[in-house]
Amino acid sequence: MERTVHGSARLEATVVPPGDKSISHRAALLNAISDGQAKVTNFCVGDDRTSMLGCLRGLGVEIEESVEDGIETFTINGMGLDGLSEPSDYLYAGNSGTTMRLVSGLLASQPFFSVITGDSSLRGRPMKRILTPLSMMGAQVMGRGGGSLAPLAFDGGGLHGIEYEMPVASAQLKSCILIAGLFSEGETSVIQPAESRDHTERMMASMGADVDKDGPRLTVRRPSRLASLDIQVPCDISGAAFWLVAGAAHPNARITVQGVGINPSRTGVLDVLRDMGANIAVENVREVGNEPSADLVVETSNLRGVEISGDVIPRVIDELPVLAVAASQATGQTVIRDASELRVKESDRIAATVTGLAGLGAKVRETEDGMIIEGGSRLRGAEVASFGDHRIAMSMAIAGLIADGATTIGDSEAADVSYPAFWDELENAKARV
Ligand code: S3P
Repeated sequence: MERTVHGSARLEATVVPPGDKSISHRAALLNAISDGQAKVTNFCVGDDRTSMLGCLRGLGVEIEESVEDGIETFTINGMGLDGLSEPSDYLYAGNSGTTMRLVSGLLASQPFFSVITGDSSLRGRPMKRILTPLSMMGAQVMGRGGGSLAPLAFDGGGLHGIEYEMPVASAQLKSCILIAGLFSEGETSVIQPAESRDHTERMMASMGADVDKDGPRLTVRRPSRLASLDIQVPCDISGAAFWLVAGAAHPNARITVQGVGINPSRTGVLDVLRDMGANIAVENVREVGNEPSADLVVETSNLRGVEISGDVIPRVIDELPVLAVAASQATGQTVIRDASELRVKESDRIAATVTGLAGLGAKVRETEDGMIIEGGSRLRGAEVASFGDHRIAMSMAIAGLIADGATTIGDSEAADVSYPAFWDELENAKARV
């Protein structure tokens, strides 16, 4: 479905983004193998949640959805470390890379046969990165394309720990190995080339698992049990990023984004925007679900171009498309490099972002591992594609909010993967002046 976005003379809003997708997925998966019952609130919304919960239910986990005191609550009945059962059909991870890679860590460890697959985007994404270490741990696993693509088939169990130097700074890869490590004999260590989001190791430790961090090395040992953990999920900084860029890049804006998770392994977008000169206040810092969270207030800012590269990249990977929109409105050049992982997300996000921004009149070009954006363009509304990718659809919508005239986004329903209320919130952000 196409959606058309028009600019607005003023943006003024208080937004509460959906629950953090990464934390929600881990809260469901780790509680599913805990001893006991856990209640998870502010769970992420959208198609990716259906994917994760569907896979866990396929493994015999009972998950109830209810409204308690007006709050949507997921009750997860933990099966213990040995309680999952063989799925009678394939598991479906939809569009969700996190679901496929984290659940694969579980499947490799279980003494039964299982198959996991996903939509056409996910079936094109690299899986060798997880199959290589899982095979080293002793898993029997096969995939299409010589073990590089889904569907993946597991004849699991009997794993032993390994020490694994990760070739990419991927939290999904790290989490897959650590989850398999919970079921493996001996110690499982991963060495990270750069720090990525640390929700898995944090949550495992809070549930009583023995997880050590020594610089870039993380080590986990098989626990006798995991204790269930009630979790109130903070709001997703990756959803907040659209509003932060809208507020900073629009000429007349003030937006408050409430209850956002500010785990330092996720706040690359704040660091980069501040480096660009964005006017963002962090207020009301508190702990929510063992994670720091805060309200973020952003106002119209004079942005300048920056270089985005190196260790910050894994901390800002999902926010780079919308940061490119901000860069198109900055003074001077922005260079994004070391971000070739963007090419293997839900779409090739380097090509998708550059195509979209160029279509709106920005001066931007692709490089192998990033892009170069010349700031100061006046964007003009046009037809742009989402490439079936939620973050591209929403990034283009934010560009449309700043552009002159009408911007029409094709396949806009892609946003439903992580942020179904996005379009309504976008209209609500336009102040009547
Ligand atoms: C995620 C990790 C990141 C990110 C994805 C969610 C996670 O992927 O892009 O949206 O929840 O672990 P990689 O770890 O593959 O970089």
